[in-house]
Amino acid sequence: MTYKKNIAIFASGNGSNAQAIIDACKQGIINATVAVVITDNANAFVIKRAEKENIYFQIFKPKTFVDKVAFEAEILKTLTKHNIEFIALAGYMRLVGTVLLQAFPKKMVNIHPSLLPKYKGLNAVQQALDNKDNELGVTIHYVDEGMDTGEIISQEKITIENIDEPLESIMAKVHNIEHELYVETLAKLFNN
Ligand code: GRF
Repeated sequence: MTYKKNIAIFASGNGSNAQAIIDACKQGIINATVAVVITDNANAFVIKRAEKENIYFQIFKPKTFVDKVAFEAEILKTLTKHNIEFIALAGYMRLVGTVLLQAFPKKMVNIHPSLLPKYKGLNAVQQALDNKDNELGVTIHYVDEGMDTGEIISQEKITIENIDEPLESIMAKVHNIEHELYVETLAKLFNN
């Protein structure tokens, strides 16, 4: 339990899951250190979080690279420089390509707000509600070349009792479960 791996978090937006992971690492709940935050969005709130936590962050703008290979090769340089051994995607709104997948085989996980394989892609909660599902959920899975398709590691169901519950309140429940499940899952992956 003494050796702590350096992990990188990739996020494109708010970063509430990133924050949950950072907090759990600081508290020793996850035996790892969040050493780097990577974002593809210069306006992402996750940048403010990284600044506040004194965590190294870097913004990579995809449009400034000729292609995904060049984009990811540059990210990989940063990850290598900081001895990153594992990547947690947390609201990273982009498919991961071959450069990073090959560098981190089974060392990259993602969180998705549905009971995969149901409702992959964007607006997964809304997709489930549109389909009149009252059983929502959250999944943590390994990342492969597909969108939300990799091997499932853990899942948690959220049952909505009242179909008229406002979306905001449903989303708040989903986010709470996300934070708990992500921390719990990473703790299991790192603490043995
Ligand atoms: C989460 O709902 C996550 O499941 C999805 O993107 C959202 C990111 O939220 N992949 P946040 O930026 O962590 O608050």
